[in-house]
Amino acid sequence: MQPTRRVLTLDEFTIQELRQFPAATGELSGLLRDIGLASKRINVEVNKAGLVDDILGDAGAVNVQGEDVKKLDLFANNQLISVLRNGIYCAGVASEENDEVIVFDDEVSNRSKYVVLMDPLDGSSNIDVNTSIGTIFSVYRRVSQLGLPCTMEDFLQPGLKLVAAGYVIYGSSTMLVYATRRGVNGFTLDPSIGEFCLSHRRIQCPAIGNIYSVNNGNYYDFDQNVRNYIELCQRGSYTQRYVGSMVADIHRNLIKGGIFMYPGTVAKPKGKLRLLYECNPMAFITEVAGGLATDGTRRVLEVAPTELHQRSPLFLGSKEMMEELGGMLAG
Ligand code: AHG
Ligand code: MN
Ligand code: MN
Ligand code: MN
Repeated sequence: MQPTRRVLTLDEFTIQELRQFPAATGELSGLLRDIGLASKRINVEVNKAGLVDDILGDAGAVNVQGEDVKKLDLFANNQLISVLRNGIYCAGVASEENDEVIVFDDEVSNRSKYVVLMDPLDGSSNIDVNTSIGTIFSVYRRVSQLGLPCTMEDFLQPGLKLVAAGYVIYGSSTMLVYATRRGVNGFTLDPSIGEFCLSHRRIQCPAIGNIYSVNNGNYYDFDQNVRNYIELCQRGSYTQRYVGSMVADIHRNLIKGGIFMYPGTVAKPKGKLRLLYECNPMAFITEVAGGLATDGTRRVLEVAPTELHQRSPLFLGSKEMMEELGGMLAG
């Protein structure tokens, strides 16, 4: 009889990784455990979304991005903030849903070496229609002095400084995918034990793919070089897929190979996506998996942020598709 394969839980996996670095303190593992816990709570609510009135619909507020806030945006934001605040691994949080950074400023938090940036609920417009949504998170090491409250500088770091980034996709199954410089690994939530279990070891984005993902409704607002690339995809052996939740669109392309684009337009030259909460973490994951990510001219991860909620055009995905796109965008 074949021995039963032991599936590693997220905790077991991060501890196994830790064992290879005797100097590591386990703080990142603890942080990932906290984020995993919050996302399991969010997952429970997402799964009930059609059943209970207090989950679906607008919260009745407009956020700093100028978007209508959904009840689930707020629920997810509150869960993540409260888990991180009550934990001991995070000095402060910046969120798509909060105008200002949240500095925890207590004795234990001030000793924590990490800050977290997040898009608590990605794909808000899909909540009410039972389509995949997600959570995106970024972890940076503080540059401010340990023992004191964290500062804005800790949050305005370029993506190249990321220690870890990840996302949770609430899809046909729920998965947590995270990247460190060592690799990208994916964990599927096993509802029978309530644990994320390693299911996708060392994810590599195929160098070539045949999927392109873009909101074609904006086609006539894109510049000519972007339109030319889309036409190349349309004439070639490509297929178009666009969910409208970047977590779902990028997750699919990461596994199958493809390109995701949210270009700027004349009216909105910087597009829609937020550099700190959306572009950087997804660019980091993509690059660690062997893909590329740019804002059309520069590597996204090299951009020095100046504002918390700044936006950026985003192009990312399979290496060879990105190289072809890069050549066309250069004109
Ligand atoms: P969020 O729900 O966090 O505000 O993000 C929505 C984003 C992103 O997930 C998605 O790719 C994009 O908005 C879709 O925008 P369009 O509807 O303009 O295509
Ligand atoms: Mn939003
Ligand atoms: Mn988002
Ligand atoms: Mn969001």
